[in-house]
Amino acid sequence: MSTYLSFHSGSSQSALLCGVLAAITMLWAPKSVSAPPESGSSQAGKPADAPWKLGDPIVPVSTNADGAKVFAQVCAVCHERGGGYAPAVYILKIMTPASIYGALTTGAMRVQAKDLSDAQKKAVAEFLTGETVREDSKLAPPVCQGAAAHFDLNQPPAFSSWGLTPENTRYVDGATAGLDASHLGQLRLKWALGFDGAVRVRSQPALAGGAIYLGTQDARVYALDRTSGCLRWQFHTAAEVRTGIVAAPWPATDKNAKPLLYFGDIVGNVYAVDAMTGLLVWRDHSDPHPSTTLTAAPALYRNRLYVPVSSLEEGVAGEKYDCCTFRGSIIAYDAGTGRRLWQRYFLDRPKFRKTLSTGAKMFGPSGIAIWDTPSIDAKRGLLYIATGDNYSSPATSLSDSVVAMDLSSGKIKWSYQARTHDAWNAGCVMTGVTACPTESGPDYDFGAATILATASDGRQFVLAGAKSGWVYALDPDSGRLVWKTKVGRGGVLAGIYFGMATRGDTVFVPINDAPDGRQYDESAKPGLYALDLRTGQYRWKAPTGDSVCENRGPLCAPGIAAPVTVADDLVLSGASDGWLRFYGADSGKVLWQYDTMQDTETVSGGTARGGSMGGGAGLIAYHGTVIAESGYGFAGRMPGNLMLVFGAD
Ligand code: HEC
Repeated sequence: MSTYLSFHSGSSQSALLCGVLAAITMLWAPKSVSAPPESGSSQAGKPADAPWKLGDPIVPVSTNADGAKVFAQVCAVCHERGGGYAPAVYILKIMTPASIYGALTTGAMRVQAKDLSDAQKKAVAEFLTGETVREDSKLAPPVCQGAAAHFDLNQPPAFSSWGLTPENTRYVDGATAGLDASHLGQLRLKWALGFDGAVRVRSQPALAGGAIYLGTQDARVYALDRTSGCLRWQFHTAAEVRTGIVAAPWPATDKNAKPLLYFGDIVGNVYAVDAMTGLLVWRDHSDPHPSTTLTAAPALYRNRLYVPVSSLEEGVAGEKYDCCTFRGSIIAYDAGTGRRLWQRYFLDRPKFRKTLSTGAKMFGPSGIAIWDTPSIDAKRGLLYIATGDNYSSPATSLSDSVVAMDLSSGKIKWSYQARTHDAWNAGCVMTGVTACPTESGPDYDFGAATILATASDGRQFVLAGAKSGWVYALDPDSGRLVWKTKVGRGGVLAGIYFGMATRGDTVFVPINDAPDGRQYDESAKPGLYALDLRTGQYRWKAPTGDSVCENRGPLCAPGIAAPVTVADDLVLSGASDGWLRFYGADSGKVLWQYDTMQDTETVSGGTARGGSMGGGAGLIAYHGTVIAESGYGFAGRMPGNLMLVFGAD
């Protein structure tokens, strides 16, 4: 734990909670971060009231390569003081040292860092992350030679969206998947790729032109030959690629197609990159708040890109933090040019509310981060998102809600609030900290993407699954509740986390229910569950017993945080215990499994190893190939740095 940790752990119970929380958020709020009250400007990249501007002269430092001193003298003025869109210190802290060093040498911080020696740049990167900067990559994929280097324009994107369909069903039909229960006996590992220094692999790839496009924690997007894993190009981002990758569609016959890829990073940048060359086409900083992050993949529909804006501010509130000022929003861009068409916030600007005995100021309302990919309703001209909780009082009417928005204007057509008065921040689990809002949680966000599902009788439902463990089915015309079913126990890290899937009249519900230090009356229900789309009644239950974590260390958990995918008659899942499990979609029986937590030889010749699976990275099945990512060193789960590609012999 860092000396910057700004809360007390007075008893062993609170020490445990702190441990859990620190792991959840990698929390280390600096002593005096102050976030600006008016940080939610909707103007692209222009800090509303920054006390500095990019390119301001910096205080000269000595030639001494002391990372802490360099930080205090050069970086703190912007990164600790806030007032613009400089990422908060705790976000720099969870970047890799190489990406901080990259930002200082060739990236966005090269001007600020121009008077620093190379040793000082390394020192400050190492000071922030506690890890060594390594420039050589032992696990880098080999560069493609010959035909493998070429993109095939006859292969438009396999899927148009993170949700595999615009409606986010995460369903792949048998012909596209090239895989069903009868092929499982022939499924073998074809190749694997590792990532140096990474502790998580959480960006769901896109498939197009014979390539796999994959974002990494060390701030790159790779274009890899799908068959062999060699590298066609790589693109350097400013920071960890946290969202999935989305590839723009093109007609297979179009020889002049110039498709773009879209994704976002952990400090809130949105990118559009040429899929064939890896060159940047446009980039925009989504929101000026210093805690901004992009978690969910954007949705692309009819040349418009819909970007859900999230933040990590909920985890910073402590005794000294001025909590909280982030406001979640959706931004619509012209996908070709990056021009903003609209940005819709889900609450008003936060106002000053009170000063705590610690001196920290409280602002509110705040929060409502959006960390799920919108589902698209072409017929009604709507997109559906599900929202996060408030971070500070007062709680507002659009938190923990399902919201239907007009695709062209962003106007809210209807909203359904699943839970009222849910304001929560990390202060709620710290002893001696008064930053917890009076509502005190329970932190039952929606993080899983909404699904627009059509039943066999033609009826449509908007499905949403919450961290509370509840699944809601709403009428897409009115937003009225049709049914709800409580599947998981729920919790801070629990219930439904990143995504459900549907096939025909069945809804597949992965439950995480990871321990979070709270006491519950109900037992946890980690595993996979199937509901009838029309009624919400159970079709089957496949709980995962705790025994799966025997001998797998304290960070193992039996739940399923990552989204699941349906491939024909199979449900493909990667779990927090490091196992891939393929379930029969009709039976709920585990038909195939694979342990990703083993040393695995990669295409570079080196070895890598998986861990928990989580974040928005679900499995992909395409033409007999299954792609999995393993490693989720975040929220207290097992690190790993592995991507696996399976194929049927
Ligand atoms: C003058 C203010 C200022 C100073 C000084 C400053 N930064 Fe930044 N920093 C910013 C802003 C603003 C951004 C966001 C840039 C963007 O997204 O375009 C940023 C972004 C970053 C990023 C994320 C990379 C990116 O491209 O967004 C890193 C890493 C970073 N800063 C590290 C540092 C370090 C380390 C120092 C000290 C050596 C430093 N910064 C000094 C304002 C500053």
